[in-house]
Amino acid sequence: METHFFITGTSRGIGRALAERLVKNPYYHVVGIARHAAFQHSRYTHVIADLTEVDQLPTLANKIFTERASAKRLVLINNAGTLGEIGYVGEISEAQLIASFRVNMIAPALLCSLFIRHYKHLLIPKTIINVSSGAGKTPYDGWAAYCAAKAGLDMFSRCIQIEQDIREFGFRIFSVAPGVVDTQMQQEIRRANTEGFSRIERFRLLKENRELSTPEEVAEKFIHLLDNEDQYPEVILDLRNI
Ligand SMILES: NC(=O)c1ccc[n+]([C@@H]2O[C@H](COP(=O)([O-])OP(=O)(O)OC[C@H]3O[C@@H](n4cnc5c(N)ncnc54)[C@H](OP(=O)(O)O)[C@@H]3O)[C@@H](O)[C@H]2O)c1
Repeated sequence: METHFFITGTSRGIGRALAERLVKNPYYHVVGIARHAAFQHSRYTHVIADLTEVDQLPTLANKIFTERASAKRLVLINNAGTLGEIGYVGEISEAQLIASFRVNMIAPALLCSLFIRHYKHLLIPKTIINVSSGAGKTPYDGWAAYCAAKAGLDMFSRCIQIEQDIREFGFRIFSVAPGVVDTQMQQEIRRANTEGFSRIERFRLLKENRELSTPEEVAEKFIHLLDNEDQYPEVILDLRNI
């Protein structure tokens, strides 16, 4: 089925593995968004954008959420995320808090809104996956803005699904924790200052004991979810259970 994907954070990590895996399907087209370049492929279009610049998102949406007459399915994956500076509130800058909320909460929320606004009239399957985190369910010292943003993304997703069930525009929404994945984000966690994050040892041990998933394994699970979304009636999911 010809499917058009819009994925944020495709320059590395989970988003890149997912985009590279998706374009192997000859019916799939991917638009990726990040500040840095990604990879080249005939069915991959890269858009350079900084998701902290949330005022620019309606312009970005006009550019990417265009009429896609041949598409039989549309999928938005809000994957871009950042831990930002790890440290305690009152000790890290307020500018860092603002940047974290912009990338992890405001940008995905606005992209959900703009995706629905642009495509609600189309009578084809439409799916939104917000990439959340276990940190949206469990508090970690040093990650307050990140944890709060992911918790917000979970609740935002649950609310939109209720709205969609009432409006019958046909969007399915998921907010999905990917597990602990071997990406740059995990490198940043392991390099953190121990005074700004007391649970660092756990993450160092996970790496030492090779307990991290690879981005490619996670990409396969996202594809399984997309191929079998009727099997998953819940909005909030953990890929480790899939
Ligand atoms: N890795 C884990 O263990 C783990 C666990 C739970 C949840 N997650 C979630 O999984 C998602 C992907 O994380 P990852 O581990 O793949 O992280 P990553 O390797 O650090 O990649 C993050 C991606 O987000 C993009 N991004 C960050 N800030 C951006 C900005 N201001 N504007 C545009 N794009 C931006 C980056 O692109 P540019 O730098 O090129 O802009 C990059 O492509 C995130 O939402 C993260 O919270 C990861």
